[in-house]
Amino acid sequence: MQLPFFLGFLFLGTCLCIHQSDLIWNKQYIENNRPVVGILTQIVTDEARKQYGSTYIPASYVKYIESAGSRVMPIKLNLTTAEYKNIFNKINGLLLIGGASNLETSEFARVANIFYHLALKANDAGDYFPMWGTCLGMQLLTVLVSGHNLLENASAENIALPLNFTRAAFSSRMFAAFPEELMKALEKEPLTGHFHHYGLTVKAFTENKELTNFFSVISTNIAQNGVHFISTFEGKRYPFYGVQWHPEVNSFQWDSTLSFPHSPHAVQLSSLLAQFFVNEGRKSLHNFDDPKVETLTLIYSYTPIFAGNFSGYEQIYFF
Ligand SMILES: *[C@@H]1O[C@H](CO)[C@@H](O)[C@H](O)[C@H]1NC(C)=O
Ligand SMILES: *[C@@H]1O[C@H](CO)[C@@H](O)[C@H](O)[C@H]1NC(C)=O
Ligand SMILES: *[C@@H]1O[C@H](CO)[C@@H](O)[C@H](O)[C@H]1NC(C)=O
Ligand SMILES: *[C@@H]1O[C@H](CO)[C@@H](O)[C@H](O)[C@H]1NC(C)=O
Repeated sequence: MQLPFFLGFLFLGTCLCIHQSDLIWNKQYIENNRPVVGILTQIVTDEARKQYGSTYIPASYVKYIESAGSRVMPIKLNLTTAEYKNIFNKINGLLLIGGASNLETSEFARVANIFYHLALKANDAGDYFPMWGTCLGMQLLTVLVSGHNLLENASAENIALPLNFTRAAFSSRMFAAFPEELMKALEKEPLTGHFHHYGLTVKAFTENKELTNFFSVISTNIAQNGVHFISTFEGKRYPFYGVQWHPEVNSFQWDSTLSFPHSPHAVQLSSLLAQFFVNEGRKSLHNFDDPKVETLTLIYSYTPIFAGNFSGYEQIYFF
């Protein structure tokens, strides 16, 4: 039966619309069950710690990724663009950690920028590549996407908070596998640990077209100075994710002077988000062609050191 023209037109419009997101989000991917997530190191700035190495990754981020069934490749900051391109073709996702690095001028920002552009290009070509930013890493994503440092004082220092979910949270990819009970708990219980001076205010986000086009806001929070800031977002068309808080601490950090949530709900949150991101990495088929290189470059050939007596972390990898 011939559809009336206007109905056909409507269907066509709707189909095109669904089709576009289908392409990325509902595509059947060949599952890569040996994923490797790259973690960018950060520069050691404290003179007294340089004896251990020039760059570092707190072990909690490594454990977080490992807990979900992925291996980790630490990525140093002094390589060439060609070397990063080579690494990009081996790994299945990238984690930008929290810490303290300049968002525009640091080596951390320089290398993140290289991976960001490689990831945009790859995803555009149907080569799925997820990126995740935690705390400073999320802030860096806002600078990469907008081209500007729009961060403002939005301090939430050493405090655990519930999340103020937007409507988009309930149709998000990040929280799609979360049981309803946990979503309810997240809105009431202080399950997310915040350790930041700066943040992206809801106002700054809303006023920036690049950011509103790129990200869906999943949650907001109120900072200690009263401003509303974006606490969670996900890419609309790219598998890029950001949390201003620290999901890894819930399971893997224990300094009792810091507000690390450790309740069963807090640990479930940490586990499910780690699984979510690693499952995103399973959609990437990048791999090491040389098993020798794989063995030598993964985290297993490094040993973390005890850091509980000079930092808020129990263990840190130095490189
Ligand atoms: C939650 O977010 C809404 C806007 O999405 C805002 O109007 C409200 O004040 C926020 N509430 C809290 C407790 O943060
Ligand atoms: C941010 O605001 C708080 C509260 O108004 C203030 O105590 C703090 O010094 C400010 N921090 C920065 C980095 O400006
Ligand atoms: C921390 O503890 C380790 C292991 O006990 C020790 O070797 C190191 O010197 C200590 N570092 C500091 C800064 O106290
Ligand atoms: C990069 O830094 C590491 C120390 O972290 C050093 O061993 C290595 O030689 C450096 N590589 C280059 C290309 O400078």
